[in-house]
Amino acid sequence: MSRAPFAGSYGPWALVAGGSTGIGAAFADEIARRGVNLVLAARRSGPLERTAARLRADRAVEVVTVPADLADPAGLDAVLQATADLPVGLLVANAAVIPTGPFLAAAEDEIASAIDLNCRSSTLLARRYLPAMAERGRGGVIFVSSLAGMQGVPGLAAYSATKSYLITLGESLWAEMRGRGVHVVTVCAGAVSSPDGPQAARPAPGTSTPAEVARAGLAGLGRGFRVVPGGVNRVGAVALQRLAPRRAAIALVGRASAGSLE
Ligand SMILES: NC(=O)c1ccc[n+]([C@@H]2O[C@H](COP(=O)([O-])OP(=O)(O)OC[C@H]3O[C@@H](n4cnc5c(N)ncnc54)[C@H](OP(=O)(O)O)[C@@H]3O)[C@@H](O)[C@H]2O)c1
Repeated sequence: MSRAPFAGSYGPWALVAGGSTGIGAAFADEIARRGVNLVLAARRSGPLERTAARLRADRAVEVVTVPADLADPAGLDAVLQATADLPVGLLVANAAVIPTGPFLAAAEDEIASAIDLNCRSSTLLARRYLPAMAERGRGGVIFVSSLAGMQGVPGLAAYSATKSYLITLGESLWAEMRGRGVHVVTVCAGAVSSPDGPQAARPAPGTSTPAEVARAGLAGLGRGFRVVPGGVNRVGAVALQRLAPRRAAIALVGRASAGSLE
C-alpha cells in the first residue's frame, strides 16, 4: 500500500465521527495504515481510548479523542474546537443510531435523536470541514449510508429515511466539489458484522466485515459518488434499483431486515 499519495491527498488529519467501534474503528485503522493522524469522536470515552491506544501502538500515528454526543449541537462544537488547529483533510461521517420496529411504536425523541445524529450532525460536519478542503484544493468526505437508504424499509422507517438523506446529500456534494480537488463519496453498506452494531441474528448473504467496508469506502474516494461494498450487495442493489418494481423492492428489503434483526 502506498502511504504518501493517500496522506498527501487526505492528510495530515482525518476525523472519524463514531470512530470508536465497528465500521468507524475500521475506518480509523485503515486511515492510520495510510499514514494519516486521527481525531476520533464518540460518546463513550472507554471504547474511544481503547481504539486510540491501539492505533498509536500499532500504526504510529497521532490520535486525538473527543468524547461528545454528536446528536447535540454542543457535541458538534466540542469536535470543532478540538480540531481548530488541525488541518482535517478527510471526514468520515459514520456515527448513526438505528431505531428499529414499527414506526408507530417509536418514541418521538428516539426518532428526533436519530435525525439529529444521522442527518444533522453529518451535514454540519461536512459544512464545517469542506470549506478548508476546498480552499486547499484537496480532501475527502465519506458519508456512511446503507442499502437500507435506497428504498423504504418497513420496520426501519426513520433509519432508512435518514440513510436516503445521506445518499442524496452525498450526490449533491460530490457534484458541487467535483473539479475542486475534494472527493465526496457515499458508502451504501449492506449487512456488516459490527461487534456493537445493528446485529444480525442470522448473517445475511453478502455480510461484510467492518474492514471490508472501510477499505471499499477509502478506495472509492475520487472514483464516483457511491460505493456498495461486496459483490453480492452490488448485484442485489442493481437488481432492486433497476429491475424490481419499487413496491417489490420495499417488500423484499423489509422482509430481509425483519429476518436478520429478529
Ligand atoms: N452494522 C451494519 O450492519 C451496518 C449496515 C449498513 C450501514 N451501517 C452504518 O455504518 C455506520 C456504523 O455502524 P456500526 O455498525 O459500526 O455501529 P456501531 O458499532 O454501533 O458504531 C457506532 C459508532 O458511533 C458512535 N455513536 C453512536 N451514537 C453517537 C452519538 N450520539 N454521538 C457520537 N457518537 C455516537 C458509537 O460510539 P458511542 O456509542 O460511544 O457514542 C460508535 O463509535 C452507521 O452509519 C450505520 O448506519 C451499518
